[in-house]
Amino acid sequence: MRKLYVFDTTLRDGEQSLGITLNVKEKLEIGHQLVKLGVDIIEAGFPASSPGDMESVRTMAKELKGVTICGLTRAVTQDIDICAEALRKAEYPRIHTGIGVSPIHMAKKLRLTPDQVVEQAVFAVKYAKKFMSDVEFYAEDAFRSDPEFLTRVIKEVISAGATVVNLPDTVGYANPWEYGELIGYVIKNVENIDQAIVSVHCHNDLGMATANSLAGIKAGAGQVEGTINGIGERAGNTSLEEVIMSIYTRRDGYGVGSNINTREISATSRLVSRITGVTVPDHKAIVGANAFMHASGIHQDGVLKDRETYEIIQPETIGVPQNLISLSARSGRHALQHCLEELGYKVEGAQLDEVYQRFLKLADLKKEVFDQDLYVLMGDSETTG
Ligand code: KIV
Ligand code: ZN
Repeated sequence: MRKLYVFDTTLRDGEQSLGITLNVKEKLEIGHQLVKLGVDIIEAGFPASSPGDMESVRTMAKELKGVTICGLTRAVTQDIDICAEALRKAEYPRIHTGIGVSPIHMAKKLRLTPDQVVEQAVFAVKYAKKFMSDVEFYAEDAFRSDPEFLTRVIKEVISAGATVVNLPDTVGYANPWEYGELIGYVIKNVENIDQAIVSVHCHNDLGMATANSLAGIKAGAGQVEGTINGIGERAGNTSLEEVIMSIYTRRDGYGVGSNINTREISATSRLVSRITGVTVPDHKAIVGANAFMHASGIHQDGVLKDRETYEIIQPETIGVPQNLISLSARSGRHALQHCLEELGYKVEGAQLDEVYQRFLKLADLKKEVFDQDLYVLMGDSETTG
């Protein structure tokens, strides 16, 4: 089984999208939780972008132990100098430097020829290596680049000392088979690729970031980049919790294993949502409020008989105490009986029929029936306060 390194960029690519900057204390709180979750690398920010970001990266580098702290830079000396300074106190520091490699990025954004891009990429990696051994190179917009040119860039930056090579689908344009093919192509055609870890970094513009990341991992990538709750530019980044749990649900784990403590997923998601103010949609995979909620009568009856009828993941696995039965007009007798039992009422036979009829009348008037309603239904209204 190959080791899969989990690279969290909630505090860099995720924060970039918020329109607000998290303060040092907030970033540190998320950072400590990410350590508990077991990520291998925390991309703490882009230190050259503002004094506040510089300070946040510096603080996290000093405070967070047992994890690699990474800072983003453009392929220019000024950014790299500032990043190296911000990371000075890190136990395991990493500079993440890079440059655009697609025709449109080179011609329109950078106004550089492909040869000049290779030169600047190599220069940046060599310059960053003066400060630390761990240097990751990103080939921005790799998915829309010419694969032959991409292999040339990657080979050169590995020769210059890059330890990790990141091949982003910067604009979320890929589909899983194309992205997997690109990762496979680079692994096959870059002769010194065994001297570096290949990393996947996907955006979710077409809703395929998780699928694309998994395809890249299957094709041989050893690192996955993403954010908690999938926050990030435009439609967001790969949701790390989705990738982790997709791997978890497969017996062969797609051939990889990570250090993630899945039981911390729910707590991490809730913390990131609270601090960033970005709410998680109810139907969001893995961490949405409804992800383990069974609403229809048939499903509720099924999970009460055997959870696996409608549950592919036990909620406890991600730190949610139990599957949640949501009572509504669609619920059956079995679900009602179960919820009443949880509240201490033992109701059977004719009494259950009678309570169920009253329950249906109430449920017709309400979207959801809560514990308080059940107390009233059982004539125990004192408990409701
Ligand atoms: O999406 C992207 O290409 C990036 C790079 C800067 C790593 O976020
Ligand atoms: Zn990105």
